Amino acid sequence: MKHIAVVGVGYVGLVSAAGFADLGNRVIALDINEERINGLKKGIMPIYEPGLEEMVERNVASERLSFTTSYAEAIMGADFVFIAVGTPSGVDGEADLKYVKSAAESVAQVMDAPLIIVNKSTVPVGTGDWVAEIIRNSQPKPIPFSVVSCPEFLREGSAILDFMNPARTVLGSQDYEAADKVAQLHLPLRAPIMITNLRTAEMVKYASNAFLATRISFINEIANICEALGADVKEVSTGMGYDARIGPYFLDAGLGYGGSCFPKDVKALAHMADEKGRHPQILQAVMDINDDRRRLLVEKIREGVGDFEGKVIGILGLTFKPNTDDLRDAPALDIAKRLLEGGAKVSAYDPVGMPGAAKLMPEIDMVEDPYALAEASDALVICTEWNEFKQLDLQRIKDLLRNPIIIDGRNIYEPHEMAQLGFTYLAVGRGYHGGKPING
Ligand code: UDX
Ligand code: UDX
Repeated sequence: MKHIAVVGVGYVGLVSAAGFADLGNRVIALDINEERINGLKKGIMPIYEPGLEEMVERNVASERLSFTTSYAEAIMGADFVFIAVGTPSGVDGEADLKYVKSAAESVAQVMDAPLIIVNKSTVPVGTGDWVAEIIRNSQPKPIPFSVVSCPEFLREGSAILDFMNPARTVLGSQDYEAADKVAQLHLPLRAPIMITNLRTAEMVKYASNAFLATRISFINEIANICEALGADVKEVSTGMGYDARIGPYFLDAGLGYGGSCFPKDVKALAHMADEKGRHPQILQAVMDINDDRRRLLVEKIREGVGDFEGKVIGILGLTFKPNTDDLRDAPALDIAKRLLEGGAKVSAYDPVGMPGAAKLMPEIDMVEDPYALAEASDALVICTEWNEFKQLDLQRIKDLLRNPIIIDGRNIYEPHEMAQLGFTYLAVGRGYHGGKPING
């Protein structure tokens, strides 16, 4: 059993704190946001993540997990400090490290015994050395410490599952012993553990996210070509996925990627490359293709409804992906903005994202369910593939809609079924449909 402090109770920090507590460690999670900490002390979660509330509750009850805003309290007696604060995109895509700097300085000022500082946040290659420098310069008196990079690979909406079942744990440090101690923490997860140097571990994170984003922009480019040639990209990706070298995952064409990671991490890696005079040709294309997904879908909506003026467009799904409340860089909000600028009115329904979206875009009219949305709209646009949209009573939706038009930004329906129901159905890369789909 180790004493772990976690700085930052966001999607990454809070899940990591609850996870390490669940493995039997004593964890104190810290945040500078007093409201978040006070809420957590009352059992109120600052984020929506399946399974998180129950895991936090269980570990608080067993006194393995507690919360504070005091660095002195969090660091006292700690063996490890995990830094999991935000690393948002700054100017021209460079990661903004002000929060990491502030956390490192605060740790350095209160630490009174040797410590292992673990960078959990996604940080540019070389940040580990920079954090060590900050700590050395901020300590009132020299106390031994080591810095270890331990990048997170958590997907929002399945972060608990991903924490407990990692594909791998990647560790990087100039101090092998320190990395090995962090490796011990991860042994109960029974996944491969790789120990390398700081910069390589930091790069594994960026290269992994950039590759996943590349797959998405790749299949979206294929969708554009399928549309022109009359092929169905959903079946193309099924056919591709049988090849073990390709695999079936991350080949869903649609609105492209959003969220707080892919957009930020691809930009940051491209920025690092440009800084070193290595022009990131593929990464630039990945970003350009992804940015264009939103424009293309708005064009498809115009194809369906004609002039936007005076039309009510109903958006199904606001969060950047299902099973999360995260609206950061959510394509749906970008599309809503473009529709409003085009003269349309926008209504929307999302299972968990509406309170947050209403604060960001009060001009969107939020309604209580998909059928109420259909009743209020001239057309429906699917932006997030929540499971509850996949088995809607489409006959009822058709009867409620002023016009039977659905624009499907996530390809959750089948063109031939929609045609039989009498919908004008516009999706992504679903070329002409002569026959029934081949079930994969
Ligand atoms: C963040 C980064 O976005 C991600 O790239 C990185 O891999 C992990 O950290 P996330 O957990 O989504 O991911 O961040 P966010 O939800 O913004 O939470 C960050 C938390 O850190 C917030 O609760 C914020 O209040 C807190 N914080 C920020 C501090 O405790 N101290 C600070 O100095 C700044
Ligand atoms: C991602 C990585 O998967 C995770 O390993 C990393 O730690 C953080 O970033 P996340 O951003 O939470 O996780 O969600 P993910 O499921 O990867 O989806 C990212 C975006 O890509 C979403 O906007 C999603 O809609 C989109 N996406 C995903 C596609 O458009 N097509 C796909 O096939 C898969």
